[in-house]
Amino acid sequence: MNNDLPVSIIIFGASGDLTQRKLVPSLFNSFIKGRMPGKFRIVGYGNTAFTDEQFHAHLGEAMKQFASFEFREEEWNTFAPNLTYQQGRYTDLADFKRLSDTIGKWESGSGNRLYYMATPPGIFPNIIDLLGLTGQLQEDGGWRRVVIEKPFGVDLASARSLNLQIHKALNENQIYRIDHYLGKETVQNILVARFANTIFEPLWNRNYIDHVEITVAEQVGVEHRAGYYDKVGVLRDMFQNHLLQLVTLVAMEPPASFESNALRNEKVKVLNSIQPLKSETVALNTVCSQYKGYREEEGVKSDSTTATYAALRLQIDNWRWQGVPFYLRSGKRLAEKISEIIIEFKEPPHLLFPNARGGMTANMLALYLQPDEGIHWRFEAKVPDTAADMRSVDMEFHYADSFGKTSIPESYERLLLDALTGDASLFTRADEAETAWGLIDPILEYWDAQNTPLSTYELGSWGPAEADEMIARDGRAWSRWQQH
Ligand code: BG6
Repeated sequence: MNNDLPVSIIIFGASGDLTQRKLVPSLFNSFIKGRMPGKFRIVGYGNTAFTDEQFHAHLGEAMKQFASFEFREEEWNTFAPNLTYQQGRYTDLADFKRLSDTIGKWESGSGNRLYYMATPPGIFPNIIDLLGLTGQLQEDGGWRRVVIEKPFGVDLASARSLNLQIHKALNENQIYRIDHYLGKETVQNILVARFANTIFEPLWNRNYIDHVEITVAEQVGVEHRAGYYDKVGVLRDMFQNHLLQLVTLVAMEPPASFESNALRNEKVKVLNSIQPLKSETVALNTVCSQYKGYREEEGVKSDSTTATYAALRLQIDNWRWQGVPFYLRSGKRLAEKISEIIIEFKEPPHLLFPNARGGMTANMLALYLQPDEGIHWRFEAKVPDTAADMRSVDMEFHYADSFGKTSIPESYERLLLDALTGDASLFTRADEAETAWGLIDPILEYWDAQNTPLSTYELGSWGPAEADEMIARDGRAWSRWQQH
């Protein structure tokens, strides 16, 4: 494929939220950094009627509101002429032909094309069909790639049929299933911490690690997304993708190389090693709950049983992790916005110091994914001027201190550039998406079949008491490291 050809980035769902909040700010910032292809054009496609000028003005306003970097009018004025808009329907062959003509004229010859599905998921298959029927997926010396937003299906059966359908029109290496967690610097740094250092790996196994906790907590509620969220709930929205992706990165074996398939093979191996929960084990190993007042939110059904919080206890059946539970929790309307991974080590085998109050405290390693990105070690130290008292102390690395406050770009920036350069390492492969659904399906089925009302939790809390009880059954408690 010729990478010097002009590049068209076609965004379906261009008048929507994702385009203005994430996609265009990310492309704009890449442009400012000089990372966009030499000749490119962004074609927005959507239902709303916009002229090019209106589209520029609409996005310009959004930039001021949502961009995580300083907005400069002169930079925007240089970038905006690369943006164009076409109003169209997602079911109309003639509209797609028009789109094809517009792009073809601009390319005047061959061109590379990235199609981005930023529409509601029900529309993806239609778009791919119409692109196929109008010859727009045909490679002509230039490449054709498709980025597909989550959720990729709503369960294993629908993910399978979506894969079958898109594989009719595209090869797997043309498909980029996006999970924005993989674009986060701190998530990629899990691999660097593990595989570019010698100090962690010897300890990274069942001999030294007691358990792993992954928390993705949000303060916000369902906001204006009830139409989507009330149908999916937290297991589909957060666990099938983001949380299970984090598990794979923490648990995977070192890949043979940093090549996309080598990396993804190792991740799929982890997913395949997770003990699937069966209907009789779901109740003991999972908790689902809903925040108080959720049913009164605009757009939520008044008898909704959608879970806005879940906690899972997973076991990975392999040599490295046998007997080390992974506790996962995520929810909306919790006390803080924080995404963290805590590795709790085993206690030393013997208590040498008689004055140690309250016994031993295990060492902990915390990977803070957001908002205060960094890595912290917690270990024991002697309290000065005592015979042998000990206290836990922290050694902390903060990205902001080492790399500056503005060092962390928006995750979509990296992912869009990777899709443009053809690097699929940080995207989910077909088998990966399906294996993850295979783990979530039995949990969904169990909770859907319950006739008892879902438990509720207080706004601004750390979730329902049942989640504390679940981990307490193992003689453990959720870590409250940064919450002090
Ligand atoms: C999205 C979910 O994928 O991730 C949202 O659909 C959630 O419900 C969001 O709020 C959280 O992402 P982040 O990057 O803010 O942790």
